[in-house]
Amino acid sequence: MPIRSFVRRSGRITSSQRKAVETLWPNYGVEIDGELNLEALFGRKAEKHVEIGFGNGDSLIAMAESNPQHDYLGIDVYTPGIGHLLIKVEAAQLTNVRVIHADAVEILKHNLPPSCLNSIYLFFPDPWPKKRHHKRRLIQPDFLKLLAQKIKPGGNLHLATDWENYAQHMLAVLEASPEFINYTNGFSPRPAERHLTKFEQRGLRLGHGVWDLLYRRMLS
Ligand SMILES: C[S@@+](CC[C@H](N)C(=O)[O-])C[C@H]1O[C@@H](n2cnc3c(N)ncnc32)[C@H](O)[C@@H]1O
Repeated sequence: MPIRSFVRRSGRITSSQRKAVETLWPNYGVEIDGELNLEALFGRKAEKHVEIGFGNGDSLIAMAESNPQHDYLGIDVYTPGIGHLLIKVEAAQLTNVRVIHADAVEILKHNLPPSCLNSIYLFFPDPWPKKRHHKRRLIQPDFLKLLAQKIKPGGNLHLATDWENYAQHMLAVLEASPEFINYTNGFSPRPAERHLTKFEQRGLRLGHGVWDLLYRRMLS
C-alpha cells in the first residue's frame, strides 16, 4: 500500500453540496480514463493551471474569476469540498474550471502528460505535524520530481503553509531540487494571486505565520 497524504473521510456533507455533486458533476467533473488532453477538456488553447488539494475551492474560484483567459483544474479527494466548489463555479458561471476527484499523486503519475502545465499551486497542504507522520507530507523529493515533469520549463510552482516546520522542510527539499529555482530569495510575502482565506485571516490576527514559496521550473 502506498503512503497517502490524506485519510479518506466521509466528512459532513450538506444537502446542497450533495445535490451539487449529483447535478453539476457532468458539467465540471472530469472522468478519468487514460491520459488527459487538457485542450480538449477545456475546449481551447490557453494557459493551464492546477491546484492540488483545493479544500473548499475559494482560492481556485478567485484565481479562475480573476483570469478568465486561463484554465484551472482542481484536484482533491474531499467530497464536501467538491460540492462547495461546484456550487460556487455554477453561481459564477465559470467556464474555465474543471474538477478531478482523486489522489493528485495518482493523477500526476498516470493521467497528466509531460510539460502540460503553466503552474501548480499547493496551498496549505496537510502538515502532518507528528514526526512519525512526516512521511505522509506531500512535499518530498520524489513528488517534486513528478511536479517538475508536468510543469512546462519556466512555469511556476507556488506553495504556502502556516506550519513553520513544514515550511522549513519545503524550503530544504526545494533548494535541493535541481529542477526548481527560487525567484524570491527564500520565503516570499503572499503574492496577489493567492486569495486570502478567512482561515488565514484569522490566523494572521492571532499572530500565526504563513510562508509562501515561489519557484520556477528550470528551463532544461
Ligand atoms: C489542509 S486542507 C487545505 C485546503 C485548501 N488548500 C486551503 O488552503 O484551505 C488540505 C486539502 O488537501 C487535500 N488533499 C490531501 N492530500 C491530497 C492528495 N493526495 N490529492 C488530492 N487532494 C489531497 C485534502 O482533501 C484537503 O482538502
